[in-house]
Amino acid sequence: MCGIICYIGEQNSIPILLEGLKRLEYRGYDSAGLASINPENGEVLFVKSVGKVGELEKKVKSTDFSGNYGIAHTRWATHGKPTEANAHPHSDCTGKLFLIHNGIIENYEILKKELIKKGHKFVSDTDTEVLAHLIEDNLKDNFEDAVRKSLAMVEGTFGIAAIHKDFPRKIVVARRGSPIIIGIGENEYIAASDVNAFIRYTNRVIYLNDDEMALLNDNELVITDLNLKQIEKKPETIDWQYEADEKEGFKHFMLKEIYEQPRTVENAVRGRLIEGEGISKLGGLEPVLDRILNLKKLTFVSCGTSFYAGLYGKYVFERLTDLDVHVDYASEFRYRNLKLTEEDGVVAISQSGETADTLAALREAKRKGSLVLGLVNVVGSTIAKETHAGVYCHAGPEIGVASTKIFVSQCVILNLIALLIGRRRGLSVFDGMQLVKEIKKLSGNIEKILEKADLIREIAKKYLPYQNFLYIGRHLNFPIAMEGALKLKEISYVHAEGYPAGEMKHGPISLIDEYFPTVAIATNGFTYEKMISNIQEIKARNGKVIAVATEGNDEIKNVVDDVIYVPETIDILQPIVNVIPLQLFAYYFADFKGCDIDKPRNLAKSVTVE
Ligand code: AGP
Ligand code: GLU
Repeated sequence: MCGIICYIGEQNSIPILLEGLKRLEYRGYDSAGLASINPENGEVLFVKSVGKVGELEKKVKSTDFSGNYGIAHTRWATHGKPTEANAHPHSDCTGKLFLIHNGIIENYEILKKELIKKGHKFVSDTDTEVLAHLIEDNLKDNFEDAVRKSLAMVEGTFGIAAIHKDFPRKIVVARRGSPIIIGIGENEYIAASDVNAFIRYTNRVIYLNDDEMALLNDNELVITDLNLKQIEKKPETIDWQYEADEKEGFKHFMLKEIYEQPRTVENAVRGRLIEGEGISKLGGLEPVLDRILNLKKLTFVSCGTSFYAGLYGKYVFERLTDLDVHVDYASEFRYRNLKLTEEDGVVAISQSGETADTLAALREAKRKGSLVLGLVNVVGSTIAKETHAGVYCHAGPEIGVASTKIFVSQCVILNLIALLIGRRRGLSVFDGMQLVKEIKKLSGNIEKILEKADLIREIAKKYLPYQNFLYIGRHLNFPIAMEGALKLKEISYVHAEGYPAGEMKHGPISLIDEYFPTVAIATNGFTYEKMISNIQEIKARNGKVIAVATEGNDEIKNVVDDVIYVPETIDILQPIVNVIPLQLFAYYFADFKGCDIDKPRNLAKSVTVE
């Protein structure tokens, strides 16, 4: 979950490392640290700080140190509190080795006991420090060899980078389960957990695979496996532009990303719809299209917001295709005794493309012979690389930890995939054309809701005193109720539960009183009447209700306390419109509370531990 960045070249590494850390900060932000060596005089800068990268920057800027190679880290604690001692880099007993790590060393306790017996002194509670001492223990006259030997002894996941004062001008990086990408510049190498950290300097990259290591020198890059066997890898040129991480006048990235959604939808469908034939065209799936068309069953696997996109996808696929469709949390799917065969398709949905549970689920499906597809935003990410084929969201970087625009993009693309399959397996041209027509109007419909942001802001203000919220929806809007509740809880730290409205009377209704408001998604459609009955049940128990309803529905005003009107589209696309006011409600609610919206406590954007 953390961010790793290392630099070796002719420039002063410090500003490059700090800028890289800032661009990686969304991955983890409880503490940060940096180690850089000046090979000319052997001087070392080794600084750590608790909190955001800005805190580290203040400390670093108070020195005038310059060194042209170094490593830096922003942490999301797994073992040990976010203290300065637990922040990375970690060092060994000699103080000459510096190591940063993303992942978990699962057998750290056994290793730590053995190392303590041998006389090693530990100063942190982390699993990572064990690896630093292990390298020290294995070190004779070859640094990379000691790293290699040590990595062979650890169980778990790692993306690491290490430097040593006695082996100047060398950075060793390695990965198992956590991404490491090496950027190749002019007389310089920059390695990081995400291309975004160094895209300003180069777009020529090499992706390390699991159990691969690289030795970065001034002008040489040697890649081997963990048994020393050299591996030839050609750099790839990636099609990414450097985009300054600017808020462009918005108070937070999350708000900027909410407002980007009309464009996000356009980018998701650009060149992918053939209106006259009511069909979609997805180049990324073409190599496996025959296999897709012969699938018997399809399962969506994902986590968090991406899971709710999958849940929505299930309803969409049921409507547009004759496939047997399932959806599962990736973290559960991987443990189930599933009878997967080559007639199964598994779609991994992930914004980051690095989520450890989703990756584990797709590997399990692959092992069993299934076709594995990806719906991913980050180009070149591990999930994108390990799937047989896939579709990219093309939504640009999402910096706010709470996902908004990528969710909308995933939902739109799920319609395109279902349309592609459905039209070849029985869906009529008329139905296909109607869907395409309405997809094209989505962007304008979202604009109309964004124009009402002030009203939503006022409603959020009115409900600020409440500490608990219920979100309900039926059928296609059930996933949206779940997503609305997740948005509110993750950024405002207020308790919110999503429920299928029909389940309310089987338990949650006992929570309802005048202090427990409900957000009810009650747009027009075949479940509308039943939603109104559920709303009445809440009102009968003094519960307050905010409804998301279809423009022109004046009657609902007489039943509920507050209404947010949204434009009408076909029922299959209505959830994509309905989620927008819920994102805005969560945003304003959290902003009034003064929360750190883009970096909510305890969370990280890319969840690379299980
Ligand atoms: C969403 O707001 C959350 N940040 C989280 O639930 C996220 O969707 C989840 O961790 C999955 O991430 P992924 O899409 O990168 O796989
Ligand atoms: N397990 C390590 C720690 O707790 C690394 C966590 C991370 O990936 O940021 O320090």
